[in-house]
Amino acid sequence: MIAWVDSIVIARERAFDFECMPTEAIPSENFELNQELLRNDGLSQSAHSQIFKFSNYPLIFAAMSQTITQEDVFKSIISHCKEYGFIFPSSEIYDGLGAVYDYGPYGYELKKNIQDFWWKSMVQLHENIVGIDAAIFMHPKTWKASGHVDAFNDPLIDNKDSKKRYRADVLIETTMDKMQAKIDKEAEKAQKKFGDAFDKGKFLATNPNVLRNKQKLDETQARFKKALEENDLDALKQLIIDLEIACEISGSRNWTDVRQFNLMFATQVGSIAEEASTIYLRPETAQGIFVNFLNVLNTSRQKIPFGIAQVGKAFRNEIVARQFVFRTREFEQMEMQYFVRPGEEMQWYNHWKQARMKWHRVLGLPEEKLRFLDHLKTAHYANAAVDIQFEFPFGFKELEGIHSRTDFDLKNHQELSGKRLQYFDSELNESYIPYVVETSVGLNRTLLAVISNGYKEETLEDGSTRVVLKVAPFLAPIKVAVFPLVKKDGLPEKAREIMDKLKFDFQCFYEEKDTIGKRYRRQDAIGTPYCITIDHQTLEDNQVTIRERDTMKQDRIDITRVNEIVAQRVDWRKVI
Ligand code: GAP
Repeated sequence: MIAWVDSIVIARERAFDFECMPTEAIPSENFELNQELLRNDGLSQSAHSQIFKFSNYPLIFAAMSQTITQEDVFKSIISHCKEYGFIFPSSEIYDGLGAVYDYGPYGYELKKNIQDFWWKSMVQLHENIVGIDAAIFMHPKTWKASGHVDAFNDPLIDNKDSKKRYRADVLIETTMDKMQAKIDKEAEKAQKKFGDAFDKGKFLATNPNVLRNKQKLDETQARFKKALEENDLDALKQLIIDLEIACEISGSRNWTDVRQFNLMFATQVGSIAEEASTIYLRPETAQGIFVNFLNVLNTSRQKIPFGIAQVGKAFRNEIVARQFVFRTREFEQMEMQYFVRPGEEMQWYNHWKQARMKWHRVLGLPEEKLRFLDHLKTAHYANAAVDIQFEFPFGFKELEGIHSRTDFDLKNHQELSGKRLQYFDSELNESYIPYVVETSVGLNRTLLAVISNGYKEETLEDGSTRVVLKVAPFLAPIKVAVFPLVKKDGLPEKAREIMDKLKFDFQCFYEEKDTIGKRYRRQDAIGTPYCITIDHQTLEDNQVTIRERDTMKQDRIDITRVNEIVAQRVDWRKVI
């Protein structure tokens, strides 16, 4: 049923995009659907065409199939992650827990490699950045000082008919994205029509359709920004009404009022209920760094500007937790707080903006799938904030936040703790509370970006197909697989010898079962960049075949050079 409901939703959205009819005018009873199709949860494209065979709206279907393709890619990625041991739903034998996931053998390796690379880039390569590992539980006053108790809220709204809960801001943002997409599409169409003669700037400045849509978008943006800045929940609801936003399940616009919802998970510390006090699971790792500012300053011999980095779990009771590991209730952050002189924060903010964008490129994410997006409303602690967004299969979304946090956190901790959290600057001969520039990237989101970008379904020259995960070799869960061509004639023994040498340097995989082709395919699917095959010739000339994942090219190399060659090819220094 879900796929059917989705297709109606998509059709409605697409109708909106293509202006072929108003959304509410789609008569669902026109979509003749037989019982068999209804039972089919994962409707195929041909099933969809049957559904729409009887409909009067071919335009909608044409547009819809485009969206379904993107959705299908994402569905394939999710099932690939489960099938090949990357990511499983948490406690799946009990039907899972909403928006919580476990990482399997290859998912864990990939996540660890991304984390290690972040640590090397931030801590190892910067003499003025040091790392810590603070506890998840913190004194409750921490969250009062940080503003999270009072202001870490999301505005939620319920649809009274479907009882489905939404984030009011996300509903509006999604609608604004669609408005922008309409403008982009208009320009794309004109580009195709006029070819090289097309002047995009002029077109955007003069085309009446574009101007009308742009005006609507600007007005919406201005109202949205004002409502957020003034924390005006009624204005948010009014915007949802004026934009005619409908629930994706019921299709109705029967909304409750917008309410604030605090995202922190609370729990009790202490064994006797009456004496127990409420503490929170940390919603960001950053506060563990702020409360340790003095400890690190006094022990690490750092001078301003300097940074403190940390990787760890964070927890948020997200209202809308969808899109696989993109938004979950338990996740990992890789955060760095950079302490600078007051007044120099914008210079460092710009520095870290560029440095962090470069890091994502080095991970292998293509330039055209990355972009900056300034925050419309900065968080309660920031005076400037930008997101690095990545184009996931479900659109451009936040991957990392870069925030100029001023002295907000240290000042509030100083006030509430009564401890002097200042830095004596010997060059200026004065003490001050440092300003902070923060870089904060989600580990799980980065992993999803790397997998989404690397996942390819390829048709090969001989007509066969393969699924291959093209991740950068230094990130790959398994660096090298070792295969004896057959399970006899002394080949397994020789292969084991090679495996025993490789495993001290790399995460390796050994397999004898199945044809060599099948073994290659399995390694392609988990992103293993190199496979070593030992054949009868090896016993004579001491050479093995090394096969490269992306090109599938095979070379003969001497056994004595296997470790050295693999080391060279998977070295992270190559990409820096
Ligand atoms: N200390 C600043 C901070 O926490 P944020 O923008 O709320 O800022 C930073 O979070 C990053 O953490 C995001 O860019 C995202 O990658 C990741 N993140 C935030 N909430 C998440 C969630 N519910 N699930 C997965 N990752 C999340």
